[in-house]
Amino acid sequence: MILSIKDIKESDCSCDALILPFTEGESGFYDNLDSFLSQLIKKFLLKEFHGKTNDVLLIPSPDQYKPERVLLIGLGKKEDVSSEQVRQAGGKAAVYLRNMGMQKVALSTRLLSSLDISPSHFVEGVLLGLYTFQKYIEEKDRKEIESIILLAKQTNDLKAKVRWTEVVSSAVCFARDLINTPANDMTPRHLAKEATSLEQKNLSVKVLEKKDAKKLGMGSYLSVAKGSKEPPKFIVLEYRGAKGSPLVLIGKSVTFDSGGISLKPADGMEKMKYDMAGGAAVLGIFKALSALRLPVHIIGILPATENLIGESATRPGDVVRAINGKSIEVISTDAEGRMTLADAIGYARRLRPKAIIDIATLTGACSITFGNVAIAMMGNDRELLDKIKLSGDNVYERVWEMPLFKEYGEYIKSDIADLKNTGGKSGALISSAYFLSGFAGDVPWVHLDIAGTSWLEKERPYSPKGASGVGVRLILNLIKELK
Ligand code: BES
Ligand code: MN
Ligand code: ZN
Repeated sequence: MILSIKDIKESDCSCDALILPFTEGESGFYDNLDSFLSQLIKKFLLKEFHGKTNDVLLIPSPDQYKPERVLLIGLGKKEDVSSEQVRQAGGKAAVYLRNMGMQKVALSTRLLSSLDISPSHFVEGVLLGLYTFQKYIEEKDRKEIESIILLAKQTNDLKAKVRWTEVVSSAVCFARDLINTPANDMTPRHLAKEATSLEQKNLSVKVLEKKDAKKLGMGSYLSVAKGSKEPPKFIVLEYRGAKGSPLVLIGKSVTFDSGGISLKPADGMEKMKYDMAGGAAVLGIFKALSALRLPVHIIGILPATENLIGESATRPGDVVRAINGKSIEVISTDAEGRMTLADAIGYARRLRPKAIIDIATLTGACSITFGNVAIAMMGNDRELLDKIKLSGDNVYERVWEMPLFKEYGEYIKSDIADLKNTGGKSGALISSAYFLSGFAGDVPWVHLDIAGTSWLEKERPYSPKGASGVGVRLILNLIKELK
């Protein structure tokens, strides 16, 4: 889609549809603009359309008027309008107009400016809301919006914000594509290929093979891969936009989680292709980093593997040794995510990072606790936790912190090894993070459990059903604030 900024009046803009945002009950805002708009508003406002949150009304205009139609979109009460409300309105308006077959659309930014909200939030809603996944469909929907014009002054500030939004939204859609792709086409090998395709001047990628991981002592990660013929790929990306110690981002990358010998129930198992949503988010972030040339040093790690059943699969009760020398008793082969992350965190520590953030679809307990509304967060560094909380509020990928009380350590004590990999049903969201905390040690570390938020059963105004791409906007916003 082509995005442009034009400093012209609404009535001078030739387009299929002009989007006109309204706040609830405030019909006077566009009165002095032009006679068509003011008459239109008198006729329809407060009758068919009230400006309530995400209300839409499409009205055809007379022949001589340049915008062929006008789409009224409600933002709700003036005092409650937020950047998130505007994002949602963008998604709602764009999906509506696309389904009506509109190709060239324009947005009046007057009302948003008067509310001191950047139109870039509306654009974000448009770009994220229009996402579709049609790779496997023969007869694709041909209807696409071709261009959107922002009617506004071309300030450097607006241009920069729109550019940021375009890059970040395309990174989110890239992550969604990877996650939505079925596991037969998104094996660890495919994931490694996708990572390698991101290579650029400041961005290098290396892929550690099984033998390399063995040499490094990653017995915990490798124990997950044993049930599959597909070779594991331990993927490491490095973006060097600045000197200094790196921030390490680790994304859980189990390309399919059957549970292993501790097999999952058949119902809903097809969704376990999204168990690499953390890794996909990290790849999305790297795609954006190099496009934006941000002055930061970041390393990304995707310990990719399948979790399948096979004659050489890990058995419940097996004991394996992680990269830091600790022995782990595998109680459930379905608690595989932490097994892969333990070695990834251990590996990350050798890189002398200033901080480690892991993002993972780690526990069913996370989605039971938070549904698809919030990300569960736990960690050992107050400053980093607070910054992530703030970023989450900014981009509306909200996080909620859970406590890592030392008593949770009791949950994962093994009778025969240093640790066991599950602490039972009760407290499962926290004991999983507690397990990871031991591998992070004293390095500033935060764990984000996205099991609930990374997949949507029902669409949202700017997220279709399926992969949400959660985490990309959250962490890019954090990185922007860190630099
Ligand atoms: N990938 C799952 C967690 C998950 C469940 C993500 C549902 C998204 C939706 C993870 O590997 C898992 O199976 N966790 C187990 C851990 C248990 C065996 C301690 C769980 O949460 O049931
Ligand atoms: Mn599992
Ligand atoms: Zn899993």
